[in-house]
Amino acid sequence: MKLDFFVYFPHLCKYQIYLKVGIDNSDFYILFCNRIRTMNNVLNMYRTRIYKPTDKMSDLICENYALLQVLSRFGISLGFGDKSVREVCELNNVDCNTFLTVVNFLIEDSNRMEEHLEGISVSSLMNYLREAHSYFLDFQLPTIRKKLIEAIGDSEEKDVTFLILRFFDAYVDEVKKHMEHENENVFTYVEQLLRGEHPQGYNISVFASHHEHIDTKLTELKNIIIKYFPAGGNNRLLNATLFDIFSCEEDLASHNRVEDFLFVPAIKKLEKEAK
Ligand SMILES: [Fe+2]
Ligand SMILES: [Fe+2]
Repeated sequence: MKLDFFVYFPHLCKYQIYLKVGIDNSDFYILFCNRIRTMNNVLNMYRTRIYKPTDKMSDLICENYALLQVLSRFGISLGFGDKSVREVCELNNVDCNTFLTVVNFLIEDSNRMEEHLEGISVSSLMNYLREAHSYFLDFQLPTIRKKLIEAIGDSEEKDVTFLILRFFDAYVDEVKKHMEHENENVFTYVEQLLRGEHPQGYNISVFASHHEHIDTKLTELKNIIIKYFPAGGNNRLLNATLFDIFSCEEDLASHNRVEDFLFVPAIKKLEKEAK
């Protein structure tokens, strides 16, 4: 049997790549899938580049769709047509340098930060982190809870369901405590520094030495569901919820990276300048 079809590479929307493929048997299909995977890996390698103010905002998002979260946390709405990063930032009153610093830091694999700190706006970075906290606490985690209840609520394994929800709620409490501490204590301290005040008895190294990685417990929850939740429930919804948990875990890990390797060094620099 010979079958022709078109394949579209959605994450490469900049280039609108479609391939017409002829398949004679399933072996060819497997070969084709493997070749796509290899090709994507190679293209991913080239995708990691440093974005500049003159680049199109739409290219930046199409090439790295995870950056949609960064856009919304900086308060930038979609619908920017072919405008450049600088133009979109100006229209939304966003500090372009800080926006690009976060973008370029997140898409690179290493945690090098020296070259990222130049010209960063601490208040803009802090607003970005605050928005991220609100996103996790007011939207992402409640949405996952709702989906979890829908996916496992009807299961006959009431004990496992109860334990999963209890574990999840305890986790959310921890995240809440962690983020409220940052909002109320750490950011207040930084605001004082920005006003030219020199608060005594506290510095950002105190925060940095106690800064925990809150994504790890989500890894445990994910493992409990994958390994121990009995079959028979709403598998589609449970898988979709797991997908959300995976993406939330990655998002929280990126958030931690920004705090550890951009925010803390930027505040250390500010403390030095304030002396
Ligand atoms: Fe945070
Ligand atoms: Fe944190």
